[in-house]
Amino acid sequence: MILVTGGAGFIGSNFVLDWLGQCDEPVLNIDALTYAGNLANLASLQDDARHVFVHGDITDRALLDRLLAEHRPRAIVHFAAESHVDRSIHGPGAFMKTNVDGTFTLLEAARGFWHTLGQADKAAFRFLHVSTDEVYGSLAPGAPAFTEDHPYEPNSPYSASKAASDHLVRAWHHTYGLPVLTTNCSNNYGPYHFPEKLIPLMIVNALAGKPLPVYGDGQQIRDWLYVRDHCSAIRTVLARGRLGQTYNVGGWNEMANLDIVRTVCGLLDELRPDPAGPYSRLITFVADRPGHDRRYAIDARRIERELGWRPAETFATGIRKTVQWYLDHADWVAQVQSGAYREWVATNYAAR
Ligand code: NAD
Ligand code: TYD
Repeated sequence: MILVTGGAGFIGSNFVLDWLGQCDEPVLNIDALTYAGNLANLASLQDDARHVFVHGDITDRALLDRLLAEHRPRAIVHFAAESHVDRSIHGPGAFMKTNVDGTFTLLEAARGFWHTLGQADKAAFRFLHVSTDEVYGSLAPGAPAFTEDHPYEPNSPYSASKAASDHLVRAWHHTYGLPVLTTNCSNNYGPYHFPEKLIPLMIVNALAGKPLPVYGDGQQIRDWLYVRDHCSAIRTVLARGRLGQTYNVGGWNEMANLDIVRTVCGLLDELRPDPAGPYSRLITFVADRPGHDRRYAIDARRIERELGWRPAETFATGIRKTVQWYLDHADWVAQVQSGAYREWVATNYAAR
């Protein structure tokens, strides 16, 4: 079996669903169920013996040791993290705890377990660390996209904590020989995306007739990838990636935030027209994020050249599927907009 951390979050749950949709290898899923973790994402696996869920924290070494000894996974795919830049600005402590200390604890538990394996299992074992393009910092307009050799220049508490975790993973390979792989991916979007991130926030706010808050001038650029394409990239790297290597994963799709919001509005105008007028009337420019990175862009040629991976979706196909998914899953949206969600919206937007 494989062990997945953070498999109740946005990308982790898509990965677990995708994995079990493609093969019968069981998944041991460890997730602390923070505000971002949601077992409803995995409801279709409720009676599926191939999915073993453990409510637990990756900073809990004793739990990790026990689970590894009991289930003896052949690989660890590490998603668990605090993942939202705006939250990292309001409260960086949780990011240091989970992203840095949690990754350290997981690496140490993995190293201890790996040493107990016989020769063949030891050689086959993999620790895949899921990271972000944000570790590279911000690109000037027209500068070449991030390659794997780009210097690390993280600018937010979130990206600094992810950069730290990437360095730990690298060091555990070089010092201890742990068979690691790292992926650095661009912004994901798709089903089960928690509606405090840009795309799902715009969809749910528009449907509720609420303002669509665009930070600053809305000209910040991100490279957007459909989440199932990220899942296929991770599967590919896990199967065939070179040990100790890092792979940048992206959608070859740079877009300014304002264009993303306008695209979402246009799709909603088509799929769920509002008698009050076009959804773009709700676009509202609000105070910018402190230290806001201006541009991210991924050069994904290494993963294509070495492993033959390319995204299957274009932005046009992926965003249409995504908007349709939110229209079809109003119950999921209502369930995640709990008290904790409303508190966050008040914290982040009230003073903007
Ligand atoms: P998410 O915030 O939606 O989910 C994170 C999951 O981790 C949640 O289920 C949460 O409960 C769990 N978790 C948090 N702290 C934990 C702990 N201490 N122990 C166990 N579980 C814990 O995040 P996501 O968007 O799905 O991102 C997953 C991974 O992918 C992260 O490592 C993130 O840095 C990386 N990544 C995300 C994106 C993106 O666009 N969302 C892009 C590139 C990389
Ligand atoms: P986000 O989804 O938080 O991802 P990240 O900061 O990790 O790239 O934000 C994507 C972009 O959208 C980012 O440039 C910030 C911007 N943004 C807004 O303009 N308004 C919002 O309400 C949010 C949540 C984000």
